[in-house]
Amino acid sequence: MNPLFETKIYTNRREKLTAAVGHGIAVFLGNHEASMNYPANTYNFRQDSDFLYFFGLSIADIAAVIDFDAHRSIIFGNNFGIDDIIWMGDQPTIASLAEKVGVTETHPFSKLADYIQQAQQQGRKVHFTPPYRGENQIQLSNLTGINVNVIREEASLELIKGIVSLRSAKEPCEIEEMDKACDIGVKMHTAVMRRCHNGESERELAGIAEGIALSFGNGISFPVILSQHGETLHNHLHNGILKTGNMLLMDAGAEGLMNYCSDYTRTLPIDGKFTTKQQEIYEIVLKANLDAIDAAQPGMYNKNLHRLSCEVIAQGLKDLGLMKGDVKEAVELGAHALFMVHGLGHQIGLDVHDMEGLGQIHVGYDETVRPSNIFGWASLRMARELKPGFVVSIEPGIYFIPHLIDIWKKEKKFEQYINYDIVEQYRSFGGIRIEDDLLITENGHRVLGPHLPKTVQELAEIIG
Ligand code: GLY
Ligand code: MN
Ligand code: MN
Repeated sequence: MNPLFETKIYTNRREKLTAAVGHGIAVFLGNHEASMNYPANTYNFRQDSDFLYFFGLSIADIAAVIDFDAHRSIIFGNNFGIDDIIWMGDQPTIASLAEKVGVTETHPFSKLADYIQQAQQQGRKVHFTPPYRGENQIQLSNLTGINVNVIREEASLELIKGIVSLRSAKEPCEIEEMDKACDIGVKMHTAVMRRCHNGESERELAGIAEGIALSFGNGISFPVILSQHGETLHNHLHNGILKTGNMLLMDAGAEGLMNYCSDYTRTLPIDGKFTTKQQEIYEIVLKANLDAIDAAQPGMYNKNLHRLSCEVIAQGLKDLGLMKGDVKEAVELGAHALFMVHGLGHQIGLDVHDMEGLGQIHVGYDETVRPSNIFGWASLRMARELKPGFVVSIEPGIYFIPHLIDIWKKEKKFEQYINYDIVEQYRSFGGIRIEDDLLITENGHRVLGPHLPKTVQELAEIIG
């Protein structure tokens, strides 16, 4: 069995959710095994994060109900039979597992349909989160009678908001787990830094990082991004050989043994030394990362941290001649987004983009801050006010994306803020991103995990 927090952590969370939602029943479907290429050949099992949060158990084919009216929690699942035990060894009963998370009522899986039907007949609301896996969409459709094509839209906003209000502020036991995930993430990155030399294979380095994630935890928190083409934001192709003069961007993190995640990006000069042009851009991104971290505290809107880092980027690019005009105005209108195309970051927790499956609009926004539709600003996943216990990524970047440069230049877009002639000189520059994981504390912030080298000098030393 997977490690668990002490029982009262789970009972407290369910009580708080009951207080937040108040009526009806909530159905939590756990995940099933997912087949790779034939039914019995499955990916590593990953439990649903809401299920983990409220019920802890990382086993396939179970479900749970919180009955908000009756103040009851029930786990539905079948005990393993001899056919499973032959292949998997002795297995605990569902009842004994449920007890570890404070649930004393368990039933065979088939009873879940009856429970839901009864609630529906009583006119009680059946709450569920938007199912993101095909099997669970079909299963939930069968259980509720809601057409599978609209099952995601029928998810309960009250439940989503209740979950977001709980999961956003991490408890001390969760922060400990996130520090462990960060520790593994730092091991992954430092191992790659030490091998960041001319002639090394991208594939081998990506494998080293993924191997470390598996050696110390549950594996990677998302597929490793490792590339000498940092301007391609999520580049999973690892077929290059490292070449002196290039930069290597690695965006990778680990999932710890209790499924909490880390997420780091470093951009490394191959053989340890940036060219002058690379170092000039690197120092701007580093300042955007450090200034956003310095300013982070409770009460600050993450949208304003994003603005701050974009202004650092625009000012730095103006100093180098790539941008011009009023920096604040340029950022407000979105001119900086030719270079910083994405948002400053996202929440991190049991998911690397924490709770994203519940809908970004509910996780990163609220009634006081609404999404923008301006390119660049529109990619900001987390805009709302930071509170103690929140964990967010701080990941500014500067990218030179030739296709995007061509389109904007042709449209003469933001010509009053962008010197396209100078930008052309950076066409094949690539991209730089620097990402850390930040806990918001009562009085300020703490960068999670051990320090991961990021100044020019620190990188030169570790790469050697
Ligand atoms: N998963 C990539 C990132 O958000 O950093
Ligand atoms: Mn990342
Ligand atoms: Mn990230």
